Amino acid sequence: MPWYHHTTIYQIYPRSFYDSNGDGIGDIQGIIQKLDYIKAIGYQTIWCSPFFKSPQQDFGYDVADYCDIAPEYGTLADAQQLIDEVHKRGMKIVFDMVMNHTSIEHPWFKEDIRATVQNRDTDKYIWADKPNNWKSMTGGTGWHFSPERKQYYWASFLPFQPDLNYRNPEVKKAMLDNVRFWLKRGVDGFRLDIFNVIYKDAQLRNNPFSWKAVPNEKNPNGFFQQFKYTINQPESMEFAKELRSVCDEFGDRMLLGEVSGNRKTIRKFSGKEKNDGLGLVFNFEMLRFKFKAKYFHELVAGIEQDFPEPFMPVYVFSNHDRRRSIKRMNDDVRKAKLLHLFQLTVRGVPCMYYGEEIGMTDARIPFKKGLDPIAQKMKKVPRFLFDLAGETPNRDELRTPMQWDSSFNAGFSKAAKTWLPVNENFSNINVQVELTNENSLLNFIHRVLKIRNENPAFSEGSLELISEKELPRNVLGYKRKLNGQTFNIIINFSLHEKRIHIAGELFSVPALSGIIITDEQKVLL
Ligand code: GLC
Repeated sequence: MPWYHHTTIYQIYPRSFYDSNGDGIGDIQGIIQKLDYIKAIGYQTIWCSPFFKSPQQDFGYDVADYCDIAPEYGTLADAQQLIDEVHKRGMKIVFDMVMNHTSIEHPWFKEDIRATVQNRDTDKYIWADKPNNWKSMTGGTGWHFSPERKQYYWASFLPFQPDLNYRNPEVKKAMLDNVRFWLKRGVDGFRLDIFNVIYKDAQLRNNPFSWKAVPNEKNPNGFFQQFKYTINQPESMEFAKELRSVCDEFGDRMLLGEVSGNRKTIRKFSGKEKNDGLGLVFNFEMLRFKFKAKYFHELVAGIEQDFPEPFMPVYVFSNHDRRRSIKRMNDDVRKAKLLHLFQLTVRGVPCMYYGEEIGMTDARIPFKKGLDPIAQKMKKVPRFLFDLAGETPNRDELRTPMQWDSSFNAGFSKAAKTWLPVNENFSNINVQVELTNENSLLNFIHRVLKIRNENPAFSEGSLELISEKELPRNVLGYKRKLNGQTFNIIINFSLHEKRIHIAGELFSVPALSGIIITDEQKVLL
């Protein structure tokens, strides 16, 4: 089993993690200073959102140079030091590769804009004289007019993020070389930004009509069209294999794709029978989980069917784009513990967003004040519509600075003003307070990770769901097995104490809590 199938991932949003130089913005040296903290909790792999050179219109998801670092985060030497310091601790690190698009500040885009009609056969972006009907992922047309070139360019996301044209071999080669640049420096792999839109239909055919207005995780069609020609093209799945072979030149490196669609579709990015494409893909359906045993039972049953060996699912409940998980559980720490217990014991790679381990909550920031370009795009839409849908388009709210302690700026920065305000609840919710409280979420996660890291059955073993009929209402149960050893995980989602029989013995599981029982009926948690 490749290492990345049995690892645990901690996602860092560098801008908000730790500010080492007092400018109000987190940086690479800040991450280095906090590596021991992440290791001590028990996480093994770090994924850093992008810190490459960028005008920061989408805070790094708009890259102007893939082989350089934005000065507010540090230098190339800092990035190298980060890789080395992670490795010194026996951990792994993956960077975030935004291959689909660049920033409009990228020199290639400037060249394309200036290209004369005779010089357009080497275009690096996707141009058209007249827009077709394609909608972008953020709504509205994705075609934008360049007055200089007098043509339209295509952008899957926002207008300042033009899509690269992978049908031009030069583009593909140059981007694969950017990937090699970091692999040579020792990075252990990449999280791949909106990988499933990387190829678009070569003939730019119009997308068919659909009644679907709002895209969702299982079905990304929306804005009244089927995204038939704009997402999940067969060429993108082929490209996944090519990228994998580039990584294979360097040994076992992780590729974790941000893709969307139903489980069968996203699985295709990993491969048909062999896992020879992206080693891992996100499955975002669970970002909108329901806090019910039945929900998790069905989720696991479905995933086990669609991601059997040699595939490995990824379990993710929040990230830098979506609400913090605790928000979906009425900010209830008891529930957050159960969610983490599930995530760390189910068969799959857990991927956790920074701050989740202490139960950081979403801030409430008016769209108009949002620095996030999506908040700006949506600022005229009434807030209550998003509240009703249980979402927020203002991603600032879930990107607030990490809450380290009860001191000024939650210990995140010494600056008078931080790039985003620190959440006002920082004196109650922070790392320092939780380290000293035996019962805190942080200490709970630490205990579960210890059990996981000491017993490979959790990361490498098989999973067997315990039938709902054998369990009391609103209780989830599954077994993890490896080399003749079994662990029973029982999670009580209800507000009542429940009793269950495991191998003839009776166990009691208090309200909103979980237990792990071994073969020998020893209770580990
Ligand atoms: C991905 C990123 C998101 C970014 C977008 C455009 O969805 O996770 O943060 O804004 O792609 O790159």
